[in-house]
Amino acid sequence: MTSTDTIAIFEKYVIGNYRRFPVCLVRGEGSHVWDAEGKRYLDFFPGWGCNLIGHCPPRVVAAVREQVGKLIHVPNTWYIEPQGLLAKALVDHSGLDAQVFLCNSGTEANEAVIKLARLNGKPNGRYKIVTMLNSFHGRTFGALSATAQPKYHKGMEPMLAGFNYAPFGDLDAVTKLVDAETCAIMLEPIQGEGGINLPPAGYLEGLRALCDKHGLMLIFDEVQTGMGRTGTWYAFQNFGVEPDAITLAKALAGGVACGGLLAKRKFADKLVPGTHAATFGGNPLACAAALATIETIEKDDLLPRAARIGEAFRARFEALKQRCPLIQEIRVKGTMVGVELSIAGTPIVDECLKRQLLINCTHGNVLRLLPALNLPDDALQAGCNIIEEVLLSVKS
Ligand SMILES: Cc1ncc(COP(=O)(O)O)c(C=O)c1O
Repeated sequence: MTSTDTIAIFEKYVIGNYRRFPVCLVRGEGSHVWDAEGKRYLDFFPGWGCNLIGHCPPRVVAAVREQVGKLIHVPNTWYIEPQGLLAKALVDHSGLDAQVFLCNSGTEANEAVIKLARLNGKPNGRYKIVTMLNSFHGRTFGALSATAQPKYHKGMEPMLAGFNYAPFGDLDAVTKLVDAETCAIMLEPIQGEGGINLPPAGYLEGLRALCDKHGLMLIFDEVQTGMGRTGTWYAFQNFGVEPDAITLAKALAGGVACGGLLAKRKFADKLVPGTHAATFGGNPLACAAALATIETIEKDDLLPRAARIGEAFRARFEALKQRCPLIQEIRVKGTMVGVELSIAGTPIVDECLKRQLLINCTHGNVLRLLPALNLPDDALQAGCNIIEEVLLSVKS
């Protein structure tokens, strides 16, 4: 089918809850994808952050192929080796005394952690959770209520009770919101959808101290930052601040749907049979894919690539900033790259697409790149040339 044929079917049969580019993709390899007409695109935003080791990573493809012929799905009433091995690998890489619950997406992982926080707070009458303005935690009701962005709540109210919002980076504001009914503080250590916002110095440490003082759980949503994106397995390891629970998804299984909650054992114990479940959670296919993802990051030594890639992007954009007054600020941590503009970013994204480069705009005016850890240096430079050309061509 041509792209036009596929788009016509979508228009008739697929609910229009996504804004889609008029391109039908049929194949991907590394940092490139191809459309139905054979046109190749360079992808600086592979899989919305899910394809952290590129499209169709060979070890993941092989692992899924092997697993699919053995066992596709069994429920969580049975033990399966890949789920056990994945949980062990996630815990080992965290250095925490923790256990894992597996599910299928980021929002599901956050539902699980919200329940876990409430289960731990309940005996003391605690149920409230402080989250941060401009956060993004997902679209199901618990995660949506945690997401402190009114635009995502509009028309869906009332939200789940018990969420209080503080500006990201403002420790005093969080301190003021904590009361005798608070059970947890939950945040992305680096805000992704909110515009690649880095935590100010001392902020995460301050939150940890606040949690310790009041007996609260500190929860890091690492759905976007986890699995090596920031140069360490988990972003918290960059900052030296241990959370009590971490949520994961996106890159966890190399592009295959998979989510997870990792919680310190003393909190995880509350998730007893009957409290929570996910039929497809931790299924053999997803776990085999996640194990192959971890193996790829280890064997190809990809963690150090994150910092190198981030610094290469920073150097290009800092140099461009001298010539391009549209660029307000450049925020980078590993392969999380945000370029804040003085204008709306969507037209820039569209112009890049015309030049066969895929990027994203978030928060209205922040160009967001989440490139793969194995993005080749020449592709990085070629994509930056396109962004540069597009930004310099904007008439002010
Ligand atoms: C930090 C963060 N948490 C949660 C989610 C929700 O993940 P999912 O779309 O897999 O439900 C996202 C998605 O962008 C995210 O960036």
